[in-house]
Amino acid sequence: MKIKYLLKGLLKSVPGVEYVYNFHKETGGTDNASYCYTVWMRHLMMAWENGYQRIPASIAELGPGDSLGIGLSALLTGAEKYYALDVIRYSNTERNLLVFEELVKLFKAKAAPSDTEFPNMRPKLPQLHFPAHILTDEKLEKLLDEKRLDRIRSSIRACGQGQPLQEDSMILYEVPWTDASVIRQESVDMIISQAVLQHVNDLPGTYRSMNAWLKKDGIMSHNIDLKSMGSSDHWYGHWTYSELEWKIVKGRKKYLINREPYSVHMRLADESGFKVVKEIKDIQALPDRNQFSGQYRKMKEEDMTISSLFMQAVKTRLLILFNCIVFAGEHYNVYSLSTIV
Ligand SMILES: C[S@@+](CC[C@H](N)C(=O)[O-])C[C@H]1O[C@@H](n2cnc3c(N)ncnc32)[C@H](O)[C@@H]1O
Repeated sequence: MKIKYLLKGLLKSVPGVEYVYNFHKETGGTDNASYCYTVWMRHLMMAWENGYQRIPASIAELGPGDSLGIGLSALLTGAEKYYALDVIRYSNTERNLLVFEELVKLFKAKAAPSDTEFPNMRPKLPQLHFPAHILTDEKLEKLLDEKRLDRIRSSIRACGQGQPLQEDSMILYEVPWTDASVIRQESVDMIISQAVLQHVNDLPGTYRSMNAWLKKDGIMSHNIDLKSMGSSDHWYGHWTYSELEWKIVKGRKKYLINREPYSVHMRLADESGFKVVKEIKDIQALPDRNQFSGQYRKMKEEDMTISSLFMQAVKTRLLILFNCIVFAGEHYNVYSLSTIV
């Protein structure tokens, strides 16, 4: 039943309605410390399995959402710098501090990342115990030293005040981030995102930015939900709307989903200088392609069945980005162009 979603969208298209009804109140998920802990452990443990056997010293996260808890978990496992890039400032200092204290308890207890508490979380973990082979007792003792914890607490407070990244600060929270220059080129060991890349409006530009940020021997790790995410009764329903209908469903929201299927992520990763080293997909029964609209009707069968993708990729080459500013009437747009070196 598309009509329900079209009507909802129409309501959300009324000018000014965003001031009455807050479309982007919360994301759900990272307000819970156990969720953040489990997400981070997944990315870290899977990277380890895929040959990245060290603790990343610097990490960048796209779309942290309600709290910075996923990146704070990375700091607790040994990272010294955490770049959190979002388009809406969902998190605040108070919540970040609360989540942080809960995370410290989980690490002190050497809790096993949970698969049962979050049954929909992907990927499923191969092992459900605390990764003592990665975080040895000796390492944990140093990482959870009170002085280090206080340094993280101070960084949480500082980033909440919107201060630029100081030399000794461990966190940069940039909202909204608009171009790749927000992070120094080739300075990040690991880039992660959980349930974010399906929302990003400029997907090619984001893949190119990730290429620019990642160090030569770095790794990126993404969980991408390719379902309709509340825009339809069916998991594949987002591909059944025409362009006009989709504009209506989106209303005045800053982002909804970009509707890009699995193969587009694979192509963009490749074109942006990455080699995919791990893919875990959720496969559904093939829907009837006659329900799909326009370009989506021509999608490959494979794309029509993949509802979720966990992907880890390493960098194969560096793209050089140029920012090209184009004036149109009173506005200007920044386009990122790239070349391979
Ligand atoms: C479904 S929420 C996921 C939040 C969190 N990662 C989690 O696991 O709960 C999607 C997040 O992606 C963010 N987002 C959307 N477009 C983005 C972009 N272009 N760059 C970075 N974050 C973006 C949203 O603001 C939101 O925080």
